[in-house]
Formats: sequence, C-alpha cells, structure tokens
Amino acid sequence: MSGPAKVAVLISGRGSNMQALAEAAGDAYEIVVVASDKPDAPGLAWAIQHGLPTFALSPKGIGKPVFEAALDGALREAGAEWIALAGYMRLLSDEFVAKWRGRIVNIHPSLLPKYKGLDTHARAIDAGDAAGGCSVHVVTEELDGGEVLGQREVAILPGDTPETLAERVLAAEHQLYPAVLKEFVRR
Ligand code: GRF
Repeated sequence: MSGPAKVAVLISGRGSNMQALAEAAGDAYEIVVVASDKPDAPGLAWAIQHGLPTFALSPKGIGKPVFEAALDGALREAGAEWIALAGYMRLLSDEFVAKWRGRIVNIHPSLLPKYKGLDTHARAIDAGDAAGGCSVHVVTEELDGGEVLGQREVAILPGDTPETLAERVLAAEHQLYPAVLKEFVRR
C-alpha cells in the first residue's frame, strides 16, 4: 500500500465525528475532502479553519441525480477511495451506493441491529434497555443495515434523558469511529 488511505467525510451539521476522524488521521488514513449537503454546516467552518479541503452543495432546486453526480465528481477529484458518513442526514441513492460499494461507512448512535433510523436514545430508554451505544457499519441500500464493523456500549443510568445519554454516546463515537476506520481501510 502506498501512503495513507484517502477518505472523504460527509457531514450535514456540527461534524464532531468528522473532527475526531481528522484528529486521529495519520499513517492509516488521511481526509482528502470534507463534503456537505448543507453549505452552512458548522463542521465545514471547522474543516476550513483546519486546512482541510471542503466541498459544499445544496441539493435544493437541482434534484438528487444532479446533486449526487456533482458530489461523486468532487470526491473522485479529491482522490477519495473511501467515504465516511459522519452525521450526514441525507439518504444516498442506490445508484450512488452501488458506485462506492463496500467503501462507504457510517456511524449510528445505537447498538445495531437495534434502533435503526432516528430517535435512537429515546427508544432505548423507553424500552428499559440497560445500555445504548454506537455502531460503525458498512453502508448498503438498506438504511442502517450493512455489516457492523464495531460497536461501543454505553450504560443507561437512572434518570438519563435522550440528551444526557446522547452526550455520553457521542464521546464513545469519537473513540470508536477512528479506530474502526483505521482497521476498515486496511481491508
Ligand atoms: C451522531 O450522533 C452520529 O451517530 C449520527 O449523527 C450524529 C452526528 O454528530 N449519525 P456530529 O455531526 O458528528 O457531531
């Protein structure tokens, strides 16, 4: 292998997982572009401040196929070999997933296969679960359904709210994601 694996990170918001990935980059992987469907995503400002190349485009008014073609072009132009979704809130089309098959990963705030989709912490608390957590998984056409590459459990404490649990799970995400990505790009 020649040099670090080239990773594109896709964000829609604050991008704290992207920051954790950037801070842990090194011999195993480097971030070649941070891309967002939200031109005002706070994470983009952080990426720019830290000298990371960025790409921002809103799909509004141009339609998904045109948006995704531009995104795909920007990632390839940046030399990306892998894609890490980090709080990217838009579903990628089956066509896009097929083009990058086996090369897209995502972090999800639950112990998959439990609680795919949204409101994961509230659902875990309401179910009386002893623990929540986070999972890094391969992205396929099925929402939050691809192979799980790694997980971290976080105990649910008496009195936890979705917000307090989310905060501790997020800290676990920041540990888990870089570690799993390093292993994954060695495959
Ligand atoms: C995280 O909870 C992650 O698990 C989910 O979206 C959130 C993104 O947070 N996919 P951030 O933008 O990385 O701070």
